[in-house]
Amino acid sequence: MAYVAVFMYIAAMCLHFVELLNNGLALTPPMGWMSWGYYMCGVECETVPEKCLNEQLILSVADKFYREGYQEAGFEYIIIDDCWSERYRGKDGRLKPDRKRFPRGMKFLADYIHARGLKFGMYTNVGKDTCMRYPGSRGHFSTDAKAFAEWGVDYLKVDGCFVENTYLDTAYIKLGHHLNKTGRPMVFSCSWPYYKKFIHHTNADLEQVAHYCNLWRNYHDVVTHWPAIVGIMSYFRDQNNVIRQFHKPGQWNDPDMLILGTNSLTESQSRVQVAVYAMWSAPLLLSCNMNRIKPFEKQLLQNMDLIAIGQDALGIMATPYMLDDALTLWVKRRLPAKGNKYHTFSFALVNVGDYDAFASFSPSEYGADSTDIYTVMDVFSGVYLKNITRKTVLDVVIPPEALEKE
Ligand SMILES: *[C@@H]1O[C@H](CO)[C@@H](O)[C@H](O)[C@H]1NC(C)=O
Ligand SMILES: *[C@@H]1O[C@H](CO)[C@@H](O)[C@H](O)[C@H]1NC(C)=O
Repeated sequence: MAYVAVFMYIAAMCLHFVELLNNGLALTPPMGWMSWGYYMCGVECETVPEKCLNEQLILSVADKFYREGYQEAGFEYIIIDDCWSERYRGKDGRLKPDRKRFPRGMKFLADYIHARGLKFGMYTNVGKDTCMRYPGSRGHFSTDAKAFAEWGVDYLKVDGCFVENTYLDTAYIKLGHHLNKTGRPMVFSCSWPYYKKFIHHTNADLEQVAHYCNLWRNYHDVVTHWPAIVGIMSYFRDQNNVIRQFHKPGQWNDPDMLILGTNSLTESQSRVQVAVYAMWSAPLLLSCNMNRIKPFEKQLLQNMDLIAIGQDALGIMATPYMLDDALTLWVKRRLPAKGNKYHTFSFALVNVGDYDAFASFSPSEYGADSTDIYTVMDVFSGVYLKNITRKTVLDVVIPPEALEKE
């Protein structure tokens, strides 16, 4: 008898160790669409129909992805953010989708999305209420995890509003455990480091966060204007040394959504946001009315050379080098194209100043070490420019990108 008891104890210990996040998901950064950035708490459907968060909107995004090449380009997750539920849980203790805006429920949406080979995401908060004061998951982790699994959710964004600092450090781990217990693979998107840093003014243990979450928000919500993108780029540049070591397949720092399609960026600014996010191997989540995406934006979002940088299997976040106050060179190591040990490199020069900037560098200064030929490609035009050696000096003029939108 004693022997059996010891054996069971060991089995329980082992279980504890295998309950860590190892769900095999998000091996490349997730790509898709999320409602918040543009639709926010879009509940005023009668008075503000152009910002209505409802079933029709979600179906229309799925149709766009399916019919217009976004799915082929890798856009996959369609994620409903805050404000999807009724104000109160049902008598059975469950969250209920808003009756008017989601009349056929979430399973219906999931089925529609899955039938097109796409994936479905939803949202909750570890606190008692969501950030917009809808019911949150505190005290209901098991019930809610089961509901999300039953509805066919593939991705869960979990916010951290209205809770104590110490609770953040246990809540995400516990909720992740309940998600795992459902048996349904769900990408687990956490906001843990953001709330630690900007609400509670402490630092998250990113090693722990990376252990329990597939992706995590580090910085403020993006808003739909260029200075927000400049702010995100500065933060990720300044924090690069701290965060890049935790960035890898299945574990991603998340700078928040792309703002393309919201008529808030110039063409060059749009190029900067997508390119820099790709250089970071960041999630690429659109948040816009898909009907308002301009042709140049669509071309950018479906530029497979650019997407390939972001989806590179090594998932290495680019390293920044400040060439002057306004000019940053981002350098990313990628999977060796020739299957040898020499990385392919991507370089991105970002000028946030008001004047033309000039850069002069050779790839060898930034780690390119093959003695073979490198072929230089302009990712935006798809043109192979020239063959060089690692020592060749490249001279580049970078026009200012910070121009106000005309
Ligand atoms: C649950 O966790 C185990 C151990 O890490 C993992 O092998 C399994 O894939 C996870 N299951 C789900 C559904 O996430
Ligand atoms: C680079 O070299 C390859 C192999 O010699 C050749 O096929 C290609 O045309 C060259 N590309 C350019 C842009 O010169």
